[in-house]
Amino acid sequence: MKIETVGVLGCGLMGAGIAEVCARSGYQTVVREIDQETLDKGLGRIHKSMDKAVAKGKMEESARDEAAGRLTGTTDLADLADCDLVIEAIIENVKIKKETFAKLDEVVGDDAIFASNTSSLTITELAMATERPDRFVGLHFFNPVPVMKLVEVVRTIVTGDDAFDTAYEFCESIGKQPIACRDNSGFIVNRLLVPYLLDAIRAHEEGVGSVEDIDKGMQLGTGYPMGPFTLLDFVGLDTTLYIAEIMFDEYREKRFAPPPLLKQMVQAGRLGRKSGRGFYDYSKK
Ligand code: 3HC
Repeated sequence: MKIETVGVLGCGLMGAGIAEVCARSGYQTVVREIDQETLDKGLGRIHKSMDKAVAKGKMEESARDEAAGRLTGTTDLADLADCDLVIEAIIENVKIKKETFAKLDEVVGDDAIFASNTSSLTITELAMATERPDRFVGLHFFNPVPVMKLVEVVRTIVTGDDAFDTAYEFCESIGKQPIACRDNSGFIVNRLLVPYLLDAIRAHEEGVGSVEDIDKGMQLGTGYPMGPFTLLDFVGLDTTLYIAEIMFDEYREKRFAPPPLLKQMVQAGRLGRKSGRGFYDYSKK
């Protein structure tokens, strides 16, 4: 199957990154948001990112204009009717995702592939909300999407080979490096990353080291681009808490249990970079 038009549901941080990469890679891209204001904000994010790439000399002006020409925004699901692949990157709420996929199922052609960018929900549950579970995969991108090379391509026990292979090759065609994952909550990366991040918080709570020293230790000692607290602030503490809760619920293992400090930080509104304060203070930068 040939992918020509890609639909992206959601134009937040992840959706905007995915739509940008698709449009830049030559795909007609239709991105859908729930209202005009959110859509305008999301499209603005994409245009700003491409303008930055041009200013840095990483992209030709003509390439930016062509990519922008391939990008359409809409608030109407019906405008995704001609998509060959739809990648969902909306709020991590299973009920809303299932309802959205069920509606989409009625609009988009039977051959189209559906994908979810969920970081922790199981793909099987989402796939079963549609009439095409055999044409449903997970495509888990990483933040910042234009920079991070990895995409986890997730197959469930009902995913067909054709849909999986097409999705895998699609990732290569947008300059990413796919890896194949089974449909277990957290897939490969978050299954390893989330316990590591939670453990860093526990180590700090137990007085092993300061936030700065733990970060420095992992950056300089193991070559991570960001220490765990910088990464927690980058991902968002609310997002991490949410993912950890889902994984803990799924596996019932202590290593996925969110530590009290993480919950308290979220309760206090210290969500990381996006709120101006998390483990670090960003308000003055
Ligand atoms: N969009 C586009 N490009 C960006 C960007 C963005 N949001 N942020 C940074 N970049 C580009 C810069 O333009 C720069 O490109 P250049 O070298 O060609 O000029 C390059 O990335 C490096 O950026 P900087 O020099 O500003 O800063 P760093 O060297 O510190 O790199 C980073 C920034 C790429 C974010 C790096 O710190 C990093 O890799 N951090 C780890 C990120 C990570 O682990 N992400 C995964 C999070 S987990 C996740 O997403 C899964 C979810 O389910 C939780």
